[in-house]
Amino acid sequence: MAHTPNITWHHNKVTAEQRAALLKNRPCVVWLTGLSGCGKSTIAVELESQLIERGHAAFILDGDNLRHGLCKDLGFTPADRTENIRRAGEVAKLISQTGVIVIAGFISPYRADRATVRALLPAGEFVEVFVDAPLSVCEQRDPKGLYKKARASLAQGKGLGMTGLDAPYEPPETPELHLRTDTTSTAACVGAILNYLVQHQRIL
Ligand code: ADX
Repeated sequence: MAHTPNITWHHNKVTAEQRAALLKNRPCVVWLTGLSGCGKSTIAVELESQLIERGHAAFILDGDNLRHGLCKDLGFTPADRTENIRRAGEVAKLISQTGVIVIAGFISPYRADRATVRALLPAGEFVEVFVDAPLSVCEQRDPKGLYKKARASLAQGKGLGMTGLDAPYEPPETPELHLRTDTTSTAACVGAILNYLVQHQRIL
C-alpha cells in the first residue's frame, strides 16, 4: 500500500441521518457474486428498476462495464482479478457514501477479495448475495459464448482461465443471501433482496 504523506482527510457537515431522510434509504452495497451467466446482471437490472420505482436512489456497478474504462488495463489472472475487485470496492464505497444504493455485479471469485471489500465498508453496509446456479446451467445459458470459447481452447490444450472451468470460484460461506437462479424466478430473487433491505432498514 502506497504511503500518502501531507494529505489530510476532509470531513462533511451533512450527517448520514440527513442523507437517509432525503433519500429514504441508508447506504449499502448489494454485492452480487457468482459465475459468469449465473444471473447477476439480470437481477441487478431488475433490482435497480424496482428500487427506483419505489423512490430510492440506486446504481449498478457492473464488472463488464468497469472493464471498459477504470479497469481496462486488467485481465483475468488472479492478481488482476484481485485488483479489479479492490478498485470496484473503492468505487462502490464512494458511491454508497453519496447515499445511493450500489448494486455491484462481479464474479469476484476469491473469498479474500470479497472480504477486503466488506472490510472497507461500515458494519451492515456490505450485503453479500451469492447468485448461485450450477456450472452446467450457466454453461447452457452462455449468454456471451464464453464457455464455448473456453471449452474449445481447453480441447486444444490452451486454458483461458475461465471461472468455473480452469479458474476457481470460491462460493461464499456465510453470505447475507443465497439465491438459486436455476430454481427461483428473477422476480422472487429480487423480492428476497428487497425483503432483506427492508428488514435491515437499508430502505426506509
Ligand atoms: S472478476 O473475476 O474480476 O470479478 P468481472 O466480474 O470483473 O470478473 O468480469 C467478468 C466478465 O468478464 C464476465 O461476465 C465475462 O463476460 C468476462 N470474461 C472474460 N474472460 C473471462 C474469464 N476468463 N473468466 C471469467 N469471465 C471472463
